Amino acid sequence: MRTGDDLIEPLLVLKDVAIGYDSSASLVNIPNLEILPGEIVAIAGPSGIGKSTLLRTIAGLVSPISGQLEVCGVTLPESPPRGVLGYIPQKLGLVRHASVRHNVELGARAGVKSRKERQQRSTEAIDIMGLSEKSTEPIRRLSGGQQRRVATARTLAQKPKLILADEFLSELDEETLTSVLQAVTNYVRGSKAALIVVEHDISRAKMMADKLLVIDDGRINPFVKGTKAMEVNV
Ligand SMILES: Nc1ncnc2c1ncn2[C@@H]1O[C@H](COP(=O)(O)OP(=O)(O)OP(=O)(O)O)[C@@H](O)[C@H]1O
Ligand SMILES: [Mg+2]
Repeated sequence: MRTGDDLIEPLLVLKDVAIGYDSSASLVNIPNLEILPGEIVAIAGPSGIGKSTLLRTIAGLVSPISGQLEVCGVTLPESPPRGVLGYIPQKLGLVRHASVRHNVELGARAGVKSRKERQQRSTEAIDIMGLSEKSTEPIRRLSGGQQRRVATARTLAQKPKLILADEFLSELDEETLTSVLQAVTNYVRGSKAALIVVEHDISRAKMMADKLLVIDDGRINPFVKGTKAMEVNV
């Protein structure tokens, strides 16, 4: 019998979901997907197949064509409470003329009333992303990889339960990539949050994730570490 203690609520449930922009031609169909607290799931597949669209659908920015999506216990189109969902888009959406700190504080603002708490969270996230020396610099003066780290810090400062990250490791050198990945993994495992990351580099995706979903020709092939399915489908 399941008791209250061993009942783990998934952070994401997708049932018979079809996504896309045209109801007569769906991009991806997902029969069933559940993501649990502490899990890291990578999504891979060719350019233009619908990876970003899948994340945008989970984020509530694009309506699904059909099916049911439950995000952090809330069924779409209802939204989860502010701050619970963290989204790092492929096009970062940073305020280019404003400083690193200002941008990160915008993230910390989600659901946090105390100014002191927002500042504290921002300082911590900027530090974790190795950007302390750049905190007063305007975004437009940063490199592509530094800007991605600001977007990651902005999301970490939110302390979200579910992070949707679209190619957030792009443009990073190996050393920076390792430290960013380590910081985000620590956060996810330590906070019992979950991470869904779009990653075009399959070997990197396998290395970082507990599950890899490969979108191929509109189908999702699950690939779970340590199972046969993993070896068969990728
Ligand atoms: N707002 C939109 N309206 C209509 N079609 C769109 C829109 N955004 C994207 N598309 C189309 O949907 C398809 C999937 O796009 P998406 O951005 O999800 O691909 P992707 O897998 O993330 O690709 P990439 O690896 O290049 O980032 C593409 O054919 C794209 O042209
Ligand atoms: Mg994309």
